[in-house]
Amino acid sequence: MKLLDGKLISGQIKTEIAETVKRDFLDKGRNAPHIAAVLVGDDPASHSYVTGKEKACREVGFISSVYRYPSQITTEKLSEVVTFLNNDPEIDGFIVQLPLPAHIDEQKIIQQIDPCKDIDGFHPANLGKMMLGLPSYLPATPFGIITLLERYQIETRGKHCVVLGRSHIVGTPVSILLSRKASFGNATVTLCHSFTTDMPSITRQADILIVALGKQGFVTDEMVKKDAVVIDVGIHRVPADDTRSGFRYQGDVDFDKVAGKCSFITPVPGGIGPMTVVSLLQNGLKAAQKEV
Ligand code: GUN
Repeated sequence: MKLLDGKLISGQIKTEIAETVKRDFLDKGRNAPHIAAVLVGDDPASHSYVTGKEKACREVGFISSVYRYPSQITTEKLSEVVTFLNNDPEIDGFIVQLPLPAHIDEQKIIQQIDPCKDIDGFHPANLGKMMLGLPSYLPATPFGIITLLERYQIETRGKHCVVLGRSHIVGTPVSILLSRKASFGNATVTLCHSFTTDMPSITRQADILIVALGKQGFVTDEMVKKDAVVIDVGIHRVPADDTRSGFRYQGDVDFDKVAGKCSFITPVPGGIGPMTVVSLLQNGLKAAQKEV
């Protein structure tokens, strides 16, 4: 078994981005790419994701801003914030960190984002372009998964990819990307979800298994074909007596059981998490280069 080292690959991509920022922006007297995040409420996971994104921006020489609002903010007020960011010429692209509080109309907010600044690729215009294979911002986690497969030269053409979970952020877009007529596409894709019957009989057919269910330790060795490639998108903080912090991170895959059976596997942490962050930076660079 080999690890698909997202920390290593994302570090290489960050170096490439930092070089581009210097060469194409700073050395030419242009401002560095500037991306922003809108953060609503006090969900600890969202706060930690946004902090990670700010740190990654500093590492590559981007300017970053975070707009923080209390969870009581209304859809109307948040919509004004989005309009402000759409019109701010200093900001190349931005994200609205999800999930938003339940009273906010999430789709209304996403659809309000200028598609040219939608570096999460969640606007219907960008999702539609992705489906058609036109230039667009790809959602960061699916983009990170494809990039990791590509950098490890794991062929997807003609392979059976099984995706667990049909979220708008991960499962649905990654299933579209893998089945597209494109390099690191051309796979036969099966998308499993909460109404799928006998999931293990399907996962055992997977050459590449992508797990994005949000259920800790859901995938065990009996569900995996020998020498499969396993991509774990889940991340869960669980109590642990044997660590200094008192917790550790685990994914949707039971790593200890599955690792011995597969050819490649992503660790948690250090797999898809850092690939997601670096993919957002790649989209930010595209936005600043006015490529979408
Ligand atoms: N919440 C979990 N993942 C993401 C993401 O990729 N983008 C945003 N905006 N929110 C998220």
